[in-house]
Amino acid sequence: MSDQQDRIYSTTHQQVARFSFDETVVRVFPDMIRRSVPGYATIIDMIGVLAARYAQPDTCLYDLGCSLGAATTAMAALTEEQGNRLVAVDNSPAMIDQARTLLTEAGLSHRVELLEGDVASLAFDPCSMAVLNFTLQFIAPDARDALIQRLADATVPGGILVLSEKIRFADEAENALQTELHHAFKRNNGYSDLEISQKRTALENVLIPETLADHEARLRRAGYRHIHVWFRCFNFMSLLAVR
Ligand SMILES: C[S@@+](CC[C@H](N)C(=O)[O-])C[C@H]1O[C@@H](n2cnc3c(N)ncnc32)[C@H](O)[C@@H]1O
Repeated sequence: MSDQQDRIYSTTHQQVARFSFDETVVRVFPDMIRRSVPGYATIIDMIGVLAARYAQPDTCLYDLGCSLGAATTAMAALTEEQGNRLVAVDNSPAMIDQARTLLTEAGLSHRVELLEGDVASLAFDPCSMAVLNFTLQFIAPDARDALIQRLADATVPGGILVLSEKIRFADEAENALQTELHHAFKRNNGYSDLEISQKRTALENVLIPETLADHEARLRRAGYRHIHVWFRCFNFMSLLAVR
C-alpha cells in the first residue's frame, strides 16, 4: 500500500491545501521522503548504529513522529540482544495504521509500543535514546522548548537525543543558496518545478524551520551536555545531543 510514487503535486492545484500527513501522503510516504530529504536512508541506518552505541539496559527508546516506523525498525534491529522497549508515537491515524501493519510484517510488534498521540503532551518514561527525525519542525514553535525540556528530564545520564531537522540560515544569501541546492536535489530525483513549488506552498506555516544556533541553544538550556552535528547536507542536518 505505501510503495507508490509521489505524484501528489504533479498537476496544478487550483488552491494548494495545507500539507497534512493523511492517507494520500501515507500511500506515497517512503518515496516522498527518500526523494525530498537528502541523506534520509543514511540517517535511518545511522540511527540504528547510534542505538547500538547508546541504548542502555532497562531504559526505553523513543521514536517521536515515527511515521511508518523506519527509525524504530533500525533501532530495533541493532538493539535486539539487549531488547530495549521501543515506543513509537505519531499523531496521524493514517500513519499509525500503516506503521502497525509494517511493524507486524517485520515481526516487531512484540518489541514496539505504537501510540497515536501528540508528542508535545506525552509523559516520558526513563529513556536512553529519543529520536525526533524531522518531527520537531512540524510542532508549534512555542511548544518546542517544553517538549525538549521534558525529554531531557526523562533521559538518563549518557543517554541521547537524535534531532534531525530542515534548517534555515540567518544569512539570507546562504539560505537562498542552500534552498536552491535542495531544490536541485529534488529536481534530480524527478520532481518538476511545479511539484517543488506547490509542495513548498503546502508546507508554508506547517513546516517551520529554525537555525542551527536556535536548536543548539534550546538543547543546551534543556541540559544536554554535548551537542554534535553528525550529519548535514544542504539545509538538512541531524544533531546528536548527549545528556
Ligand atoms: C517528516 S515525518 C517524520 C519521518 C519519520 N520520523 C521517519 O524517520 O521516517 C513527520 C511525522 O511527524 C508526525 N507529527 C507531526 N506533529 C506531531 C505531533 N505533534 N505529535 C506526534 N507526531 C507528529 C507526522 O504525522 C509525521 O508522521
